[in-house]
Amino acid sequence: MADNNPPTNGHGVEIRLEEVSKRYPGQKLPAVESVTMTIPAGETVVLVGPSGSGKTTTMRMINRLIEPTSGRITIGGQDVLGLDPDLLRREIGYSIQQAGLFPHMTVGENVGMVPSLLRWDRKRIRERVDEMLDLVNLDPAEFRDRYPRQLSGGQQQRVGVARALAANPPVLLMDEPFGAVDPITRGVLQDELMRLQADLGKTIVFVTHDFDEAVKLGDRIAVLGERSRILQYDTPEAILANPADDTVAGFVGAGAALKQLTLRRVREIEVSQVPTATVDEPPSALRERLGSRRGAIGLVLDRRNRPLRWATARDAGAVSSLERAGRPVEDSVAMSSTLQDALEAILTDDDGVAVVTGSRGEYVGVVDIDTVMNTIKALREEHADPGEDQS
Ligand SMILES: Nc1ncnc2c1ncn2[C@@H]1O[C@H](COP(=O)(O)OP(=O)(O)OP(=O)(O)O)[C@@H](O)[C@H]1O
Ligand SMILES: [Mg+2]
Repeated sequence: MADNNPPTNGHGVEIRLEEVSKRYPGQKLPAVESVTMTIPAGETVVLVGPSGSGKTTTMRMINRLIEPTSGRITIGGQDVLGLDPDLLRREIGYSIQQAGLFPHMTVGENVGMVPSLLRWDRKRIRERVDEMLDLVNLDPAEFRDRYPRQLSGGQQQRVGVARALAANPPVLLMDEPFGAVDPITRGVLQDELMRLQADLGKTIVFVTHDFDEAVKLGDRIAVLGERSRILQYDTPEAILANPADDTVAGFVGAGAALKQLTLRRVREIEVSQVPTATVDEPPSALRERLGSRRGAIGLVLDRRNRPLRWATARDAGAVSSLERAGRPVEDSVAMSSTLQDALEAILTDDDGVAVVTGSRGEYVGVVDIDTVMNTIKALREEHADPGEDQS
């Protein structure tokens, strides 16, 4: 990693911390005490924990903005303590709250800072700056020559991410990068980061106070206690389903079961079927398929198999064409929707059912509250503590 052409080609590499401690001068207790963890290559690992638990200290030891008192840190197998700290920092992207942009430098100069330090030629830097601004959804022509104070908070944060990515580092350290923006902008920036990461496959260490943000972004979450003690280090699913102790449970907060629903997609669950008929069929066709079961509900589909109306046998008996039977289908969920979206649709539907549609809007099946309940139950069992009584 230490030469000017990292062999990683910008793809994520593994980071290992082995019994890493930091004691600040004059402090009785270490700020970070004997932390051991492996951050797998290409994954996003989120550190969450209360204020003062040592998250920033832990993160900044990885690029040696803070020197560890003891322990070992390797990046892609290389001991970082044996590297020149200046070189090391140029090869690790770093983005912080309030973006940390240099106010006297333009957006373009900020983004191009590390490439200039690495002595890229001017043309290559200029191209890279524009490419990075594009990547974070800022029009280069509009933003390249502005100063940070001429940008909104969310735009500054985007520039911060562009700057961190400019030299194509294999590792990205992000310390509450979206902490200072409003919830809506934060959601947008989180979505952008997820999209970027799906393409780039960096190893990202991300610090946040916000457990929901951790669940959304993390492949894994490390819940830290005092002195960065690792209380639990696992996938969001596993932590939500089975918090290691009361402190972690407190951090997860209320609604863990609901949060799990944001992690599952409709395509992962088994949808059920209801009787269907197309608009061109006689109403009696739907009535027959629905049979005599009281309250049973079926779907009228249009000629391209898209759901049109909900109808009971009685509804079908009251009309001469299925075009007018029952009530219109107001809402549907896609295979890529989260189970939370599906639950929302179920709760707002009169009959408590949500229609699932495919990529062309065609009928695929339905989900109801039982489907969602079974999924939550299955998740809980999947992640159950083996020592726990499961009867
Ligand atoms: N330069 C320093 N000198 C002395 N103590 C420090 C220094 N920097 C941090 N600390 C202490 O180390 C501990 C961990 O601080 P750190 O900034 O790593 O916490 P954090 O988890 O990032 O907190 P926050 O969520 O508030 O950002 C705190 O008790 C802090 O007061
Ligand atoms: Mg901090």
